[in-house]
Amino acid sequence: MDCIHIHGGKPLEGEAAVQGSKNGALVLVTATVLIKGQTVLHNCPQITDMDEMFGLLKALGCQVKREASTVIIDASSLHTSDCPAKQVRAMRSSVMLLGPLLGRCGSVSMERPGGCMIGKRPVDIHETALTCMGVRFQKDEKRIRAETEGLKGAEICLPFPSVGATENVLMAAVLAEGTTTLYNAAQEPEITQLCHFLNEAGAKITGIGTNCLMVRGVGKLHPVTFTVMPDRIVAGTYLLAGAATRGIVTVKNAPVRQLTSLLDVLRKMGAMVRYEENAIVLDAVRAGKPVPYLRTAVYPGFPTDLQSMLTAVLTRAEGSSAIEETIFEDRFKIVRELQKMGADLKVENNRKLRIYGVSKLYPARLTACELRGGAALVIAALMAEGESEIRGCDYIRRGYEDICRDLRLLGADVEEKRE
Ligand code: EPZ
Repeated sequence: MDCIHIHGGKPLEGEAAVQGSKNGALVLVTATVLIKGQTVLHNCPQITDMDEMFGLLKALGCQVKREASTVIIDASSLHTSDCPAKQVRAMRSSVMLLGPLLGRCGSVSMERPGGCMIGKRPVDIHETALTCMGVRFQKDEKRIRAETEGLKGAEICLPFPSVGATENVLMAAVLAEGTTTLYNAAQEPEITQLCHFLNEAGAKITGIGTNCLMVRGVGKLHPVTFTVMPDRIVAGTYLLAGAATRGIVTVKNAPVRQLTSLLDVLRKMGAMVRYEENAIVLDAVRAGKPVPYLRTAVYPGFPTDLQSMLTAVLTRAEGSSAIEETIFEDRFKIVRELQKMGADLKVENNRKLRIYGVSKLYPARLTACELRGGAALVIAALMAEGESEIRGCDYIRRGYEDICRDLRLLGADVEEKRE
């Protein structure tokens, strides 16, 4: 069991670069199942969720080769659509294989991905949408079994712009017979990237970047070489670490246009933001103002994945803040850990949190229980004068290549020790 040791209490000063996008890369890897031949992905983050996904694809018969941040996937030899339980249990994003496996094989079987620490995370929207395309699901508490005689284009309106459901419909539609129109589609940057990837492979998707996507089915897709976009949540993590410590940080190859909602909040808190060639420079020396009310929302609103990290920063604001979490129903898990450090927080219900700023946080032994909450505890430890320890680093490693390396580049006194 590894443990992150942080000696906090000083402003960060330095610069770090942003890795490739976890959520962007994961869905592209699932999309390679649709392509018979060698697809090359550059700038793939070296994180455990990617390793789990590679293990899943290999179990299906694909060949996967990684050379640092370049991954070569050849799905020609895929020979089954029965997904192994080990990887499906480890990673909810395996549900994004529904669309590609139905498109490639006409069937899919996997253990029903269970809930996780941030919510139940059902897949009803995925199932309803795919059913419109001629997919038959066998109802079973334990497993998802689905098959189709042939995917048909359809008019589909999602009841909620689910990222994963949008991705599954897109990947099912590209080889379907006829045209699919998807209304109320998610507009996260990961969706736009997926559309560009699929079109480069020969798909015919229009409406990219809007909430109405149209896909004209084609006979086949061909191999492509593609570069994964930078990770907007990792970039936001490092900006929030700078804000938490009232420091001055430079985040290189940050996807600036994808971070507007966060940068607006940081400016309201008193930070100054400027742009250099392919980098964001944040001067947070005076970023102490509270945020009276903020709600998380689908893109381009404030991302739910940064909510816990902003909560950590606001524990030391000069006044009280309130956050409404509208995307997941159980994403205030870090409150108890922050209270151990002297933070003054009140969970009003599972969607609303009040944060009363205190003058200081105290170091503590903390335990992460999910990915983004773990990153938030790292940020809180950077704020507390003295030595904090954070267990549960495996959760953090799911989404961050090396958070300790990057924070040291930003000037933090942090190291990972084997317990
Ligand atoms: C993706 O999850 C991301 N994961 C999440 O990032 C991110 O928080 C989320 O989108 C929202 O932006 C990946 O891309 C691998 P949703 P996804 O379907 O697709 C409910 C991280 O830390 N819902 O948009 O699962 C669901 O329960 C992760 O990197 C249904 O009710 O998100 C949730 O409350 C965490 N039925 C809401 O919609 C469904 O069929 C948003 O889910 C599907 C979703």
